Amino acid sequence: MDLGKFADIIQGGMGVAVSNWRLAREVAQKGKIGVVSGTALDCVLARRLQMGDPGGHVGRAMNAFPWPDMAKRLWDRYFVPGGKPEDKPFKPVPMPTVVLHKPHVELLLVANFVEVFLAKEGHEGTVGINYLEKIQIPTLPSLLGAMLAGVNVVMMGAGIPAGIPGSLDRLANWEEAELKIQVESSQGTDSLVQNFAPREFVPADLPTLVRPDFFAIISSDIVAKTLARKASGTVEGFVVEYHTAGGHNAPPRRSRGDGSTLARQAYGDIDLPDIAKIRELGKPFWLGGGYASPEAIAAAKAQGATGVQIGTAFALCEESGIEPEIRRAMIRNCLAGMLTVHTDFAASPTGYPFKLASFDAAEPLPDRCRVCDLGYLRRPWRTDDGRIVYRCPSEPIEKYLKKGGTAEETIGRQCLCNGLMATIGLAQVRGGGLEAPMLTMGEDLSFLRQMLKGGRQSYTASELIDYLDGKAPSASSSGTAS
Ligand SMILES: Cc1cc2nc3c(=O)[nH]c(=O)nc-3n(C[C@H](O)[C@H](O)[C@H](O)COP(=O)(O)O)c2cc1C
Repeated sequence: MDLGKFADIIQGGMGVAVSNWRLAREVAQKGKIGVVSGTALDCVLARRLQMGDPGGHVGRAMNAFPWPDMAKRLWDRYFVPGGKPEDKPFKPVPMPTVVLHKPHVELLLVANFVEVFLAKEGHEGTVGINYLEKIQIPTLPSLLGAMLAGVNVVMMGAGIPAGIPGSLDRLANWEEAELKIQVESSQGTDSLVQNFAPREFVPADLPTLVRPDFFAIISSDIVAKTLARKASGTVEGFVVEYHTAGGHNAPPRRSRGDGSTLARQAYGDIDLPDIAKIRELGKPFWLGGGYASPEAIAAAKAQGATGVQIGTAFALCEESGIEPEIRRAMIRNCLAGMLTVHTDFAASPTGYPFKLASFDAAEPLPDRCRVCDLGYLRRPWRTDDGRIVYRCPSEPIEKYLKKGGTAEETIGRQCLCNGLMATIGLAQVRGGGLEAPMLTMGEDLSFLRQMLKGGRQSYTASELIDYLDGKAPSASSSGTAS
């Protein structure tokens, strides 16, 4: 394998639509790897259309979709000229189910196509898409949608994505792909096979597809080795994420200590990946979690890494999908020493630790009436009489209990789906108010002082990349108000 084929900086995938097409495009144009988040793009597309598609970008991309009738059906369903009234809720989108239904598949195909198409528009740079292994159900049609737009790299973390490389091989040839979906029941965990035959969902004129590279996002050399040897197809590279990184983190190893809750909720040396072992696999790898400085990048390369993956520093730049007012408040609070980031072991319904950022650690997260109407983190549950139902520990508690859940599993859970939609300015209207945003950041925010020298209040992705490349900051019109 040509280890030198890839750029040294990956702008990490950040859901939901924090790493949107605008950010990824900017990064790719600078010669680095720009990554769009593939999480919940069906809902993002439907809501952007209901906001009136400002700038006409979504419409332009939909016009380039290979099957105009499919795009038109979605346009007619969701587009609201001039945008919906502020106090009117967004229309629902189909909730993910193991059996794939045509209206949902069409929405996933178009939404993933649109995000990648826009990120790749007008340049030859490298664009990736990021998915979470924990969100299994929409993955296969999403991959196909991204491939229709020529995505260069697929990246997946938050689990062990052993089935994805083989699915990419099959989808690239328009063959049926399958994915094992985890199902829980009172007997334990087993799985269901989801089949996706792409030809059943699209007209006969099939464009030629290119199989994208696949990078697995992992936190342990053992998982890297397993994937390199046993995944269903080739893994072209690894992103090695430390537990300081933003978003979800791999859970601490349970074998440590006495197995008490306290031991399970703290990281130690045992959780650090053995980089020498990852290097021995002979594949390109990038290190992630606190690497946003030229010195840290040099240190990663000295360990044999191709480079680094950076999230937080891109999440706070002008092109990020975070609602500008929230982004500005985060920067202000951080500079004032008021922003705290902590690993929350309960918030995410996935059960994985999640980095929560807040302006005042003493302040509890806003109380929200429990509603599960997006459902990306619902998991299939097999009832004792053999039916499949879907449940999420942050849904209304009585509903969760009826589906075999325990009250303990619901404690401290947050609705990431609705919270993260609010962070990017697509909050659902509920009971006369808006869903509250939820913020995630990595632990290292030291890059901010470098980027905001001389009293500047913001920076662009391009300026960040210049800083990371060790170049002097270029004169720029930005930095005062965005
Ligand atoms: C706002 C935000 C959202 C993120 N969402 C995802 C995600 O959806 N999928 C993923 O694999 N990683 C996600 N991450 C992790 C980043 O891709 C990246 O690996 C990580 O932020 C690197 O650490 P750093 O933040 O210290 O630079 C997210 C990070 C942030 C800050």
